[in-house]
Formats: sequence, structure tokens, C-alpha cells
Amino acid sequence: MSTTKNILITGGAGFLGPMLAARLLKEGSYNITLTDLQAPPQPAGVPSTSNLSLVAADLTSPADISRLISLQTAWHAVFIFHGIMSVGCEENPALSTKVNLNATQALLAAISSLSQKPRVVYASTQAVYGPPYTATGPITDDTPATPVGVYGTHKLIMEAHINDMNRRGLLDAFAVRLPTVTVRPGAPSRSAAAFLSGILREPLAGLECVIPIQDRSARQVICSPRVMIENFVRVMNAPSDAMPSHIRAIYMPGISVTLGEMYEAFEEVCGKDKLKLLRTERDEEAERLLNSWPQTAEFGNAKRLGLVFDESCAQIYREYADSVKA
Ligand SMILES: NC(=O)c1ccc[n+]([C@@H]2O[C@H](COP(=O)([O-])OP(=O)(O)OC[C@H]3O[C@@H](n4cnc5c(N)ncnc54)[C@H](O)[C@@H]3O)[C@@H](O)[C@H]2O)c1
Repeated sequence: MSTTKNILITGGAGFLGPMLAARLLKEGSYNITLTDLQAPPQPAGVPSTSNLSLVAADLTSPADISRLISLQTAWHAVFIFHGIMSVGCEENPALSTKVNLNATQALLAAISSLSQKPRVVYASTQAVYGPPYTATGPITDDTPATPVGVYGTHKLIMEAHINDMNRRGLLDAFAVRLPTVTVRPGAPSRSAAAFLSGILREPLAGLECVIPIQDRSARQVICSPRVMIENFVRVMNAPSDAMPSHIRAIYMPGISVTLGEMYEAFEEVCGKDKLKLLRTERDEEAERLLNSWPQTAEFGNAKRLGLVFDESCAQIYREYADSVKA
């Protein structure tokens, strides 16, 4: 009998899905299905292998969900990464309802009907936090979630649904609240946090990046893709009883960095002359969303679960710069 474990990753043509697939495939004991609206391209650095399937499925279609789930007789884990990002949700709440709520709920219902329950890792966001708590001190495990955007609100609704399904034994799930993962390669995302990647990515490519906030003391919580992928794997392997059955959300490790520290790290990695490619142009809507997100946090649950942390903004930027050179 095969000991290969089947893993399903939605949002498989996005930023994090292909990186997770590449990491799991290196271990050799996983069979990965990456799925997105169109069949995802082969992830970077992954040779063609029979342990990887690239599947087109629109998760707003119940027929597509059934087809996807029945591709394997048993799933070891399902990573739920598909979705509409923050600016997209604010501009089109109906689309967020369709994709981030209804499609995710339908996928969870399909998973709950399986006789063998896979570990579900649902990608939520730190945007579930909001004022006044984000401005009054570090986020702790007891901080209430008070989102101020459609994106964070819809993620929080799904978290509550997952808590309840997990409590009722219908799922074996964790919801992971991601800080901003940076540096994201490729085109800017439809997120208020897009400049947190653009600040390094665009100048390294000889392009200008527009910074939508002016205040150099403004803080954001960020993490590298490498750390996020490692922590996804750790959450996949965490014991179910690591958290109470009705409290499944974990704020994933990030480091708190000011805009001024980002400029310093930028200069260290790219040199002073590239600073001219950073132009400030205030965007009040982006600023409103960014200022409503966490600025510092304690990460108690993450530390208890043995999750890993980045060292510094400069280390995160160096890793990206090295990957571009490679
Ligand atoms: N990247 C970050 O910094 C960050 C931060 C917080 C939370 N998250 C969450 O983590 C998850 C993964 O992030 P990412 O940056 O890889 O996302 P991404 O935006 O790069 O990818 C999302 C993917 O979902 C797909 N999708 C949209 N509608 C779909 C549908 N109807 N059916 C199937 N697929 C559909 C899109 O085509 C896209 O490829 C997301 O859910 C995101 O909300 C990410």
C-alpha cells in the first residue's frame, strides 16, 4: 500500500500555494494537488513529477468542488488559500461573499462529508484585528477580533464557522492568521499591503515603488515566505488538541517593523542610490486599512506550538534579494 500522503492546496496559482507545494515535494512523501481557476503553472524550481497535479476548478461551482474532492480517495491535508484580497473585497463585497464566504463554506462542507478527516489549514489574516486594540498595545491571544474591512470581516466569519465545525467533530482544522508575507514576487497584489513587497521588489527590478504612507514610525507585522511555509507545515503536523476544540485560530509569527526600519533595511540590501526609486504618495484608503492592522503582538499560541520567527527586516530583504540573484 502507498504511504504517500495526498495534499490539496487551493489558490494554487497564487503566491504561497506554489511555494508550499515546492517545499512539500522536496520531502518526497507527499502527492500534491494544486488547484486554481485556471490550472496553475508548474511551481518555480519544481521538476515535472507524477507527485504533482495541476487542476483547474472554480470553487464557486459545487460541481467543481465535488470533482476536486473526489480526485483522491483520502486526503491527508487541505490548505485553503484561494480568495479575493483586501482591496478587491472592499471594492466588490459581493464577490468576496461569493468566493471568500460561500465557496469556502461549500468546500468545508464537502471535506466534512469525507469518512477520513484531513487536517484543514485555513488561511485567515491579521486583518481580523482592528481598532481600538491594534492601536493600544500588543495583540495577545485574548485580544478580540474587531476587523474594519470586508476582507477581515469575511475571514473572521469563516474562522467562527471552522471553530464550530471543529467543535462538532466535522473537521480537524486550524485557522492561521497570516501577517503580511513579504517579499511577494511578480505583479503587485490587490492588497493595501502591496507596497510592503513593492518597496524591495520594484527597485531591485529598476522600477519605482509608491509608498502610500508618510509616517516613518508606522508599524506593520511582516514575515518571510520561508518562515510562513515552514509554519504551515508545522501547523499541518500539530496535534488536534494543541488548541481547544472551539478556538482554532492562531496568529502566525511575524516581526514588528517600522517604515523607517524598512528604509534602513532597504539601504543595507540595495544601497543608498536605489532610495530614489521609493516615492511617497499618500493614499488615504490604504492608510486607513494599514493603520487598522496590528502593530505589535505577543504570539503566545504560536510560541506554544513551536512555530518559528524571522530575525529582522534586513534578513527578510536579503533572502529575497538572494533569490532574485539565484
Ligand atoms: N500573502 C499574504 O501576505 C497574506 C496575508 C494574509 C492572509 N493571506 C491569505 O493567505 C491565502 C494565500 O495568500 P496568497 O498571497 O497566496 O493569495 P493570492 O491572492 O496570491 O492567491 C489567491 C488565489 O485564489 C484564486 N481564486 C480566486 N477566486 C477563486 C475561485 N473562485 N476558485 C478558485 N480559486 C480562486 C486566485 O485565482 C488566486 O490565484 C489567501 O487566502 C490570503 O487571504 C495572505
